[in-house]
Amino acid sequence: MLHSIPHGGKLINRILRGKDREMAELKAKELKKITLTSREVSDLEMMAIGALSPLEGFMCKDDYHSVVDTMRLTNGLPWSLPVTLAISEQTADSLTLKEEVALADGHGNALALMTVEDIYPHDKEKESVEVYKTDSQEHPGVKYLYEVGPVLIGGKIALFQRPKHQDFLQYRLDPEETRKRFQEKGWKRVVGFQTRNPIHRAHEYIQKSALEIVDGLMVHPLVGATKGDDIPAEVRMRCYEALFENYYPKDRTILAVFPAAMRYAGPREAIFHAISRKNYGCTHFIVGRDHAGVGNYYGTFDAHYIFDEFEDGELGITPMFFDHTFYCKRCTSMASYKTCPHDSSEHVTLSGTKVREMLRNGITPPVEFSRPEVAKILIEAMAGE
Ligand code: ADX
Repeated sequence: MLHSIPHGGKLINRILRGKDREMAELKAKELKKITLTSREVSDLEMMAIGALSPLEGFMCKDDYHSVVDTMRLTNGLPWSLPVTLAISEQTADSLTLKEEVALADGHGNALALMTVEDIYPHDKEKESVEVYKTDSQEHPGVKYLYEVGPVLIGGKIALFQRPKHQDFLQYRLDPEETRKRFQEKGWKRVVGFQTRNPIHRAHEYIQKSALEIVDGLMVHPLVGATKGDDIPAEVRMRCYEALFENYYPKDRTILAVFPAAMRYAGPREAIFHAISRKNYGCTHFIVGRDHAGVGNYYGTFDAHYIFDEFEDGELGITPMFFDHTFYCKRCTSMASYKTCPHDSSEHVTLSGTKVREMLRNGITPPVEFSRPEVAKILIEAMAGE
C-alpha cells in the first residue's frame, strides 16, 4: 500500500450539498458580498475540494505570519504560501468579527459563505521578501500583492456554488476523483507533473523518465490565472491533447487540470505544488529546472534545495528532481547536464523568447525540441494573435 495520505491526514471537503446548499444560497442574498480576485476564487475552489488540505478557509493572522516566517502552519505542518483574502480599508471598517459574509466572483456570482474570524493587516513588505525573495514590483507575484487590498480577512469557508467553468470540463477532476482513478488503475506510485507551458521534448523526457520508475503519471497543467505573456491554457490544452493522443500510453497516464493561479514564487511554490498534488493522490512530484520561476529571481535549482529544509517524510510526497534536460546530437537522445558528457554546442536548447519568435514567424522548431503536432498548434494560435 503506497497510496498517499492527504496533507494533515484527511481530505477536506467544504462543499455544501442538498438542503444545506439551498439554505446557504438563500442566506447569501442577505449578507455583505465580498468580491474575490480570480486567484482568490481559485484558492476558494481548491480549499473546498480538498486540494489545499488541511486548509478549510482563508488564513487567519497567526497562520499567515507563521507560514510567511517559517513555512509552517501554527500546528507545525509544512505550508509554504499564504492563502489569503484581501479587502480594502473601507470594507474592513464595515465588517465585524464573527460576521458571516458571502464570497462572490468578479461577475457578482455568490459562491460561498465565510465567517470572519480575523481581520488583520496585510504585511506586503514582509510577504514579498520572504515568499517571493524580492520586493520588486516587476515580479508578477509581488505586483499582484501590491494590487490587492491592505487588509486580510480569515475564516472557514463553505462553498455552495462551484465557480462556473466553461472550459476543460472533462479534465476538471477533484482530488477525490483522481484518487479514485489511481486506485481503479491499481497505481500505487503516481507522479504528478505541474506545468504552465506547452510540453516540449524536455518536459516529455522528464515525465517519461519518472514514469519509468513509478506506476502512473498525472500531467496536471495549471489553468488558473497566469501572467499575460504565458501561453493561454486553452492553447496549451490542445497541445497536451495532441501529445496524449500520439505519444503517451493511455493506461499509464492521466491528463487533468489544476485550478490554481500561478504565483511565480519559485521554490516556495514548488513546495505548494507538491503538497497539493499529494492531496490529489500523487506519491511523487517532478521538480525540474527553475520550477515556477520567472525572470532571474531564483537560482536554477533553488526549488530543489528548498526540499532539504524539511525532514524526510514530513512533506509526505517524494520529489523527483531533474537537471536541465535537452536533446544531445552526440548522444542522439534526450539527456541532461547530469547524464551527458558532451559540449553544450552539441545540445539543442532554445530560450523561451527564441521559440516564441520562431513560432510567431511560422517556423517549426527542430523536432528534437518540440513535437511537430505541438509546434503546429502553437504556430496556428500565434498566427491568430
Ligand atoms: S512551471 O512554472 O510550471 O514550473 P514549466 O511548465 O515550464 O513551468 O515547467 C514544468 C516543469 O518542468 C517544472 O518542474 C520545471 O522545472 C520543469 N522543466 C521545464 N523545462 C525543463 C528543462 N529543460 N529541463 C528540466 N526541467 C524542466
